[in-house]
Amino acid sequence: MCGIVGYIGNKEAYPVLINGLKRLEYRGYDSAGIAIINGDTRIYKCKGKVSDLETFVKNKDVSGSIGMGHTRWATHGEPNNVNAHPHKSQYGHFVVIHNGIIENYSRLKTKLEKRGYTFKSQTDTEILANLIEYIYLKGKVSGEIAVRLALTKVIGTYGLIVSCKEEQNQLIAARNGSPLVVGIGKKEYYIASDATPIVEYTNSVIYLNDNDVAIIKKDELTIKTIHNDKQIPKIQTLDLDIGEIEKGGFDHFMLKEIFEQPKAILDTFRGRMSANKTDIYLGGLYNVLPKLVEAKRIIIIGCGTSWHAGLVGEYLIEEYAKIPVEVEYASEFRYRKPIIYKDDIIIAISQSGETADTLAAIKLAQESGAIVLGICNVVGSSIPRLTDAGVYTHAGPEIGVASTKAFTSQVTILTMMAMLLGKKRNVLSQEEYKNLIAELTKTPDKIALILKHCENIKNIAAKYKDATNFLYLGRGYFFPVALEGALKLKEISYIHAEGYPAAEMKHGPIALIDEKMPVVVIATKDKSYEKIVSNIQEIKARKGVVIAVVTEGDTVIKNLADHVIEIPDSDQALAPLLTVVPLQLLSYYIAVMRGCNVDQPRNLAKSVTVE
Ligand code: AGP
Ligand code: GLU
Repeated sequence: MCGIVGYIGNKEAYPVLINGLKRLEYRGYDSAGIAIINGDTRIYKCKGKVSDLETFVKNKDVSGSIGMGHTRWATHGEPNNVNAHPHKSQYGHFVVIHNGIIENYSRLKTKLEKRGYTFKSQTDTEILANLIEYIYLKGKVSGEIAVRLALTKVIGTYGLIVSCKEEQNQLIAARNGSPLVVGIGKKEYYIASDATPIVEYTNSVIYLNDNDVAIIKKDELTIKTIHNDKQIPKIQTLDLDIGEIEKGGFDHFMLKEIFEQPKAILDTFRGRMSANKTDIYLGGLYNVLPKLVEAKRIIIIGCGTSWHAGLVGEYLIEEYAKIPVEVEYASEFRYRKPIIYKDDIIIAISQSGETADTLAAIKLAQESGAIVLGICNVVGSSIPRLTDAGVYTHAGPEIGVASTKAFTSQVTILTMMAMLLGKKRNVLSQEEYKNLIAELTKTPDKIALILKHCENIKNIAAKYKDATNFLYLGRGYFFPVALEGALKLKEISYIHAEGYPAAEMKHGPIALIDEKMPVVVIATKDKSYEKIVSNIQEIKARKGVVIAVVTEGDTVIKNLADHVIEIPDSDQALAPLLTVVPLQLLSYYIAVMRGCNVDQPRNLAKSVTVE
């Protein structure tokens, strides 16, 4: 979950490391540290944000052209100065930064303790540093061999950068389960957890594979497996613009990403519709399309917001393509004993493409022989590389920890898939198919209209920012939207919120309603409109406060609800793309008004690369 950055070359390493850590901070932010290797190895680390580290190193010697940096998301040991990375081995031969979890740390620790090692921190990483050192000293081998041998003894996940005191002209990077990218410059190399710290220097990169070890000198790169098999590096060109990873005048990445949604959806369409907008092409699915069309069942897996997008996908695919769909939390799917048939199609949804639970669920599905498809945002990440086929959302980098444009672009892909399958399975007539595509192409403009009226949402936020509980209700397509609205509020404002199918209210949650409880109801004009009006009546009868998301021009709900947020009229299957936007904004404004750190909410990290 943490961010790793490394540099070896001719320029000063510190600016590369500190800027890189700022770019990676969304991945973890409880402590940060750097090591500069320049004759001796200087380690500076402290609890807190990258900005605290910057203050800490002021007036300290950070000169040197080789170094590594880490921003942590603690798994083993609380966030404090000692547990912050880098970690030095007992006799000072190795310095290590690590992303991931060494699962057999306890056994390794006991063995090392028997051999005289003691530990300063509570981290699993320090154990690895000492294991490497023990092998190095005992076997009198090179640093590289010591790293490789140590890694054969490790169970767990890692993205690592290691430096050996006696081999200061090189950095060793290794990966298993936690992403690592190597950027190729002119007589210099960059290493990072993702491409964001690299893109301002070079767009030539190599994504390391699991079990790869990269031995990196400033003018030479060798990649091997941990078993010493040489690998031929596959150099790829980054398609990432530096502007995409900056705030661009917005106060927060989250707000920028909310406002980017019209463009993100257009980018998701791009190249995937015929010029006259009457047909859909999903090139990434081309080879599997015949099997997808014939599928008896689709299982969608994901976590958090991606799981919510999957739920919208279930409603869409069942309605338009008439294929049964199940949606599962990846974390549950992987540990129960799911029945997966060979002819099932699994769709894994993930913004980052690195979520550990989703990756493990994919591997489980693949063992059963099922085809696994991916819907991912981060190009070149682990999930697209593992799956049999898939579609990129192309929403651009999402930096805010709370997912926004990733959700709408995932739903856009699922909508396109449902339409395409519906057409191919003759559930949709050519006319219906064409009309739906036409409707879909109107959504970016409709979202832009909703964004224009954000002042109204800000005013509502100001009224309810001090509430301690919120309820979100929706029916049909809007039930997953209600869940997503509640998750957004919880994660960034720390207000307790629950999403419910509106009709379930009477089976329990209605007991919560009183004059202090704001209830956000998604109540646009669709086939259950009358029912949702009744639900609003029930809330009002119990003195609840209703904030309703309605179709523009609605007068009935306007007279009932305390506040309305209007959205443009649309086909109900496309309305999740619209109705979620006011909920994102409501959470955003409430969180800002409560003084919360919107882009880096407490305890969370953007890519959940641990179980
Ligand atoms: C969403 O706002 C969350 N931060 C989180 O639930 C996220 O959607 C989840 O961790 C899944 O991530 P992924 O899409 O990168 O797999
Ligand atoms: N397991 C290591 C720790 O707790 C690394 C965590 C991370 O990936 O940030 O320090």
